Amino acid sequence: MKNIKALSYIAICTSIAFSSTTFASDNASASITTDTNAGKIKAYTCQFCHGSNGIAANPTYPNINGQNELYLYQSMKAYQNGERTNTMGKMMKQQLSSLQNQDLADIAAYYSTMD
Ligand code: HEC
Repeated sequence: MKNIKALSYIAICTSIAFSSTTFASDNASASITTDTNAGKIKAYTCQFCHGSNGIAANPTYPNINGQNELYLYQSMKAYQNGERTNTMGKMMKQQLSSLQNQDLADIAAYYSTMD
């Protein structure tokens, strides 16, 4: 009985963790299946500035918890593409330099579902 309960719990978690969102990637529109659990792992370094709950300790840094998923994705693409070129924007570009579109989408899904 216990095992069955544990299994159905995992099934529920999995169904929440995966969702499909259409992100505009570069020229084409591509549907990316996002994984909030993977996003949490990939966002490990982000918490030093954006907080473990998406709320920044430094009041000059943005809170990103509960933000719209597409907005998060597009703002990160804007840093990567060099469209946000202020000093902090250049710093953010460096933070995202090793992340692919799938990573950005997973991270966007993770923060967007955060309270
Ligand atoms: C060294 C501190 C620092 C780290 C680490 C960092 N950020 Fe940022 N982040 C900032 C600052 C400061 C800004 C505001 C930059 C600006 O002026 O555009 C920002 C902006 C953002 C924005 C745009 C918010 C908005 O409202 O437009 C997103 C999204 C974001 N960061 C996500 C991330 C993610 C994801 C990571 C980890 C991969 C990360 N950041 C790591 C400091 C940081």
